[in-house]
Amino acid sequence: MKLFKTIVSLSLVIVVLLAAGCQPQQSSTSDPNTTSKVSEAEKTSEAATTEEEPAATTEAAENSTDEVEDWQKITLYSTRHYDTDDEIFKKFTEKTGIVVEVVKDKGNALIEKLKSEGEDSPADIFYTADAGNLEHAKAEGLFQPINSDIIKENIPENLRDDEDMWTGITARARVIVYAKDRVDPSELSTYEDLADPKWQGRILIRSSSNQYNISLVASFLNDNIMGEEKTKEWLEGFVANLAREPKGNDRDQGKAVYAGEGDIAIMNTYYIGKMLSDEKDPEMKAAAESLGVFFPNQDTTGTHLNVSGAGILKTSDNPAAAREFLEFLSSEKAQEAFSSANYEFPANPNVQTENELLKSFGEFKVQDIDLSTLGDNQEKAVMLMDEAGWK
Ligand code: FE2
Repeated sequence: MKLFKTIVSLSLVIVVLLAAGCQPQQSSTSDPNTTSKVSEAEKTSEAATTEEEPAATTEAAENSTDEVEDWQKITLYSTRHYDTDDEIFKKFTEKTGIVVEVVKDKGNALIEKLKSEGEDSPADIFYTADAGNLEHAKAEGLFQPINSDIIKENIPENLRDDEDMWTGITARARVIVYAKDRVDPSELSTYEDLADPKWQGRILIRSSSNQYNISLVASFLNDNIMGEEKTKEWLEGFVANLAREPKGNDRDQGKAVYAGEGDIAIMNTYYIGKMLSDEKDPEMKAAAESLGVFFPNQDTTGTHLNVSGAGILKTSDNPAAAREFLEFLSSEKAQEAFSSANYEFPANPNVQTENELLKSFGEFKVQDIDLSTLGDNQEKAVMLMDEAGWK
């Protein structure tokens, strides 16, 4: 699994089932109290790929008016802050008749909310950026197994939880951006190299409390990437090279490179696309145009790839509809929309993105790690970042 596309192509086999996943379960005008809706709940993993048995399911639907109400709506707790998500959710409602109610907040706030609501929580799905956050929710015992053959076929194993508690929906790489007028890309090579004194006072990155950075360091802690001792050393050199005390978000780091506060920055790939297409803020666009994008560790351990993903909550009253929703998000149509509108890499390998920027990135090698380790290594990462004085 060296190249991202290679990784992703591991599930190419599944075109047939993917097609099944794209097939409407029912028209948007039909009553949600239908056989196909309820039979989703009855699906065993085998049945999910074959014709359903309407008899049993119709009965289930007719017997429960409470359930009929529930079939019409799912509630999503989301930390994602992109308008494009809402467009994709609308398409799901058009296709299935299931309304998606979205509650947006910060990850910790939503997790606290879920814990205090307990059994009474209206939420069916927790949707968030970064495998570290998904692992945190899993550790809190908030998820139930997704149990969907369609997801297993659409999303490669390395982008899903090994215990089926969450699945990646989109992928993003944490890369180096550089000032094209001051840095020659031949000077760039690896994350490790960013600890070299030649970068002193030249590197911009956001704070150590940011989950993207915690996951980046947590990925390094894997023995096949840097391992603990090297990560510790690396952090000392890296922090000593920072151009300023960390502040702002990913975009602010790119803007600061443009303003000359440093020469290189670490950012997630989709922000480059968002900045380049920002028609409201000319400075944002100009900043992005001044930057080159470099995928580190191509000759060694690969670039850090993370996901944005979701899991079905244990307290969901409607896991069948929640599952259908996640299956929809993994479908080619939704995956293409995520990549073309939000500059995220499709997690579904059958999707060829039409996005010009993503196409221009080409193939790249990614870290060969199990994303669950980002949860396991999280605490240690935070501790080491703190020890190294990364604010
Ligand atoms: Fe983000």
